[in-house]
Amino acid sequence: MAEPILEVRGVAKSYKQGQIETQVLRGVDFAAYPGELIAVLGPSGSGKSTLLNIMALLDEPTSGDVMVGGRRANSLESGERAHLRNHKLGFVFQFDSLLPEFTVLENVSMPGRILGAPDLDARALKQLERLNIARLAERFPQQLSGGERQRVAIARALFNSPSALLADEPTGNLDRSNGELVFSSLREQAESSSVAIVLVTHNEEAARFASRTVHILDGKLSETSLQGKA
Ligand SMILES: Nc1ncnc2c1ncn2[C@@H]1O[C@H](COP(=O)(O)OP(=O)(O)OP(=O)(O)O)[C@@H](O)[C@H]1O
Ligand SMILES: [Mg+2]
Repeated sequence: MAEPILEVRGVAKSYKQGQIETQVLRGVDFAAYPGELIAVLGPSGSGKSTLLNIMALLDEPTSGDVMVGGRRANSLESGERAHLRNHKLGFVFQFDSLLPEFTVLENVSMPGRILGAPDLDARALKQLERLNIARLAERFPQQLSGGERQRVAIARALFNSPSALLADEPTGNLDRSNGELVFSSLREQAESSSVAIVLVTHNEEAARFASRTVHILDGKLSETSLQGKA
């Protein structure tokens, strides 16, 4: 049995504002395995981004553990966390996050540039080919549709061959057909590169493309198969 790439154990998160404490996550257990596309569904304000940011090591839980590649990540010092984040994790965000003054090819290779990696252009082109968008390589982001931009963002997130890819509402500002293209690209990448993809969204459509779906409600996660049971 494969080891989980990403795991959270008993994760709780609350925010304090003055005297008021809001409990957003109340003991979440979750594991993502190689090749899975997991859709995490839940209404607005249910804590999807909070959970994703904790898994992305961008935020810390109030209690509980986050494991990346079998390492307990939340006790690491910030340099080590950043190293783990840069080498093991990739991110796709809701809104266009491409750099407008760089071409598609340059945007895709940016994570490698930051790490001083070799063969940037050739590797970026290969990544674009895998997502069937190599023809866009020399364009600038403003010359692309929203769906094309998000696929470029996926190519960029995969550039350093992460073990896990975390996507927060990547289809949030797309129409239905572009949204479906993005979901199916994610599914293809999960299967072909054995990356674990965690897709957080309120778009129920995502469930059709996912290998597994979990719901977040009242600060807890439940598998779809448990739906309807008390
Ligand atoms: N920094 C913060 N300080 C206080 N409360 C916060 C903070 N960040 C989030 N919250 C609260 O935590 C709850 C969960 O927020 P979160 O952003 O995780 O929801 P979400 O499920 O991603 O919603 P959406 O679908 O609208 O993106 C919300 O009630 C929000 O107001
Ligand atoms: Mg959110």
